[in-house]
Amino acid sequence: MIKISGVHKSFNSNHVLRGTDLDILDGETITIIGASGGGKSVLLKCMVGLLRVDGGDIYVDEHRITGLEDDTLWEVQKSFGFLFQGAALFDSLSVAENISFGLKNLRPDISESEVSQRVRWCLENVGLKNIEHLKPAELSGGMKKRVGLARAIATEPRYILYDEPTTGLDPIKADLITDLILKLQRNLKITSIVVTHDMVAAYKVSNRIAMLYDGKIVEIGSPDEIKNTRNETVRQFIEGHTEEKV
Ligand SMILES: Nc1ncnc2c1ncn2[C@@H]1O[C@H](COP(=O)(O)OP(=O)(O)O)[C@@H](O)[C@H]1O
Ligand SMILES: [Mg+2]
Repeated sequence: MIKISGVHKSFNSNHVLRGTDLDILDGETITIIGASGGGKSVLLKCMVGLLRVDGGDIYVDEHRITGLEDDTLWEVQKSFGFLFQGAALFDSLSVAENISFGLKNLRPDISESEVSQRVRWCLENVGLKNIEHLKPAELSGGMKKRVGLARAIATEPRYILYDEPTTGLDPIKADLITDLILKLQRNLKITSIVVTHDMVAAYKVSNRIAMLYDGKIVEIGSPDEIKNTRNETVRQFIEGHTEEKV
């Protein structure tokens, strides 16, 4: 379980997170929605310790990561797979090298045959085959996202963070990624944290949806509860984003 408690994060005078509270339960898929520039990516990066908070606490299982030094933080980071916004593959590395990068860091003595087996397994899980040797530049946008997802599951993490997994994809490709998130959650029993402003995807994948507004979680509930919200801020947001991709 992940517990986010009263987290503050500023960049100079830009006070982004203003006392964010959020509990993420084991096995659930929780989606964080909110306006662009509102701090969703910053929150994800704080969760894995890529960004340091200015105040408040974040617990990942039994670890208080906000108090850990970099060398022990790394131990906790092993429990995370991260699908970055825009996939963020290394352009000079092949698909196989991109997928196995974190795995080799984690297990330096892993054999080449185990690496290639695992790469194949990861690709199969995201519906791809025989593209190990390709470079990111040779892939379409949707394939890049899927390779990013294959990389995220390579180390068999407890948690996967998805930052805007469907943004920039046409509705059909977006739906394919959404189905993959559901499939991975079912097959691998991973706890998923999704950040998106795509409400179609949010309703489909989430057990719970949380809205980040003005640096705080202002509403949290099941997809049905969010659809029927009386919170004016949330209602305006979802009405503006439900039909966006159609
Ligand atoms: N590394 C950084 N340095 C300075 N400002 C940043 C950094 N990362 C994010 N920000 C700022 O924090 C705010 C929230 O950004 P972000 O979390 O990316 O929003 P979004 O909700 O769209 O993911 C924005 O104003 C952004 O410019
Ligand atoms: Mg973002």
